[in-house]
Amino acid sequence: MHHKTLLVTGGAGFIGSNFIHYWLEEHPEDRIINLDKLTYAGNLDSLRDVEEKPNYRFVKGDICDKNLVNHLVSDADVIVHFAAESHNDRVNLDPEIAIHTNIIGTHVLLDAAHRHGNKRFHHISTDEVFGHLETEEGFFSEETPYNPRSFYPASKAASDYWARAYFKIKGLPVTISNCSNNFGPYQHVEKLIPLFVTNLMEGKKVPLYGDGSNIRDWLYVIDHCRAIDLIIRRGKAGETYNIGTNYEVANVDLTMKLLELLGRDESSIKRVKDRKGHDWRYAIDATKLKSELGWEPEYRFNEALERTVDWYKTNEWWWKKLKNDEFYEYCRKNYQENNR
Ligand code: NAD
Ligand code: DAU
Repeated sequence: MHHKTLLVTGGAGFIGSNFIHYWLEEHPEDRIINLDKLTYAGNLDSLRDVEEKPNYRFVKGDICDKNLVNHLVSDADVIVHFAAESHNDRVNLDPEIAIHTNIIGTHVLLDAAHRHGNKRFHHISTDEVFGHLETEEGFFSEETPYNPRSFYPASKAASDYWARAYFKIKGLPVTISNCSNNFGPYQHVEKLIPLFVTNLMEGKKVPLYGDGSNIRDWLYVIDHCRAIDLIIRRGKAGETYNIGTNYEVANVDLTMKLLELLGRDESSIKRVKDRKGHDWRYAIDATKLKSELGWEPEYRFNEALERTVDWYKTNEWWWKKLKNDEFYEYCRKNYQENNR
């Protein structure tokens, strides 16, 4: 088989770093170039065990830098685009950061992929572009109309439309995947599961937003990587694939599971004001990915959650330094914003 060079953007982030580990393990003959700006969310500690590999190269830079992106794209066969401002609460505080990276950055990459002979492009998007479900009925399918309800998903929706236009107008072989909430190793402590697990390990309380009834469809990051692999190799240009598991859990129930796994009780829950415009339920119909590409999640939710908790328990070196002054300053601003 032909050996490929992948340009991975945002590879020092949560899903990107898991994807790089996964890909180098599954496709050891391929080369990876990781382009990452190393924002607060980028962390080279997540790539320590691959950094010496001869077929892995890290480049620090911004996906909005046209010269750099064109230079790197010219060396690549496939672009796998993860880089984004990914956190709703941060983007609510400063919406402009999402215009820069999520919209302009995606344009620069698509344009470079087109200029260099229409290279294969996979764009990572989110289920949040579909808006939210207000009841326990129904799922998001690939046909569900877009209806983003806040800044982060609005910027991701713009980037998805842009990617589709590059397919239709310029013939760029683009695929898009819209996935549900990921969890697993190397996820930043700003997100629900790592925040709650590490707070409980430190003997702190966990800030549960609103009434805790909001529902998410949880996807173990390794199962996500396997889905992306299938789409890159066998997906059809111009198509979108939804990725999710139907492991739907309300935040309050997830919190109870985490309390149990960490040996704490309900007195560790701190009820706080709700996130503004908080989406109620996300749920994915992944029939297309399953029937056309044969994907199934390998991990059961409870097993994957236990593995994840164990990972944070044994890797304090990785997350301790993320709980720094900058992080607590952000938490303070977020708290103020939600109480405004
Ligand atoms: P993350 O925040 O952990 O990582 C983002 C990475 O992108 C960081 O390494 C950061 O340094 C880098 N980056 C940011 N701006 C950049 C720029 N201008 N140039 C170069 N690099 C830049 O994000 P994640 O959770 O791994 O999410 C990855 C992708 O998956 C995103 O596109 C996100 O929208 C999507 N997604 C995430 C989830 C989830 O549950 N985490 C679910 C659905 C979709
Ligand atoms: O659905 C996919 C999306 O999942 C991705 O597109 C985003 O990049 C990713 O961050 C995630 O978005 P959420 O907003 O769902 O994730 P977050 O971990 O921030 O929150 C999960 C749920 O937990 C949500 O209902 C809000 C709630 N929450 C979150 C935090 C950080 C709390 O109750 N307390 C908290 O402190």
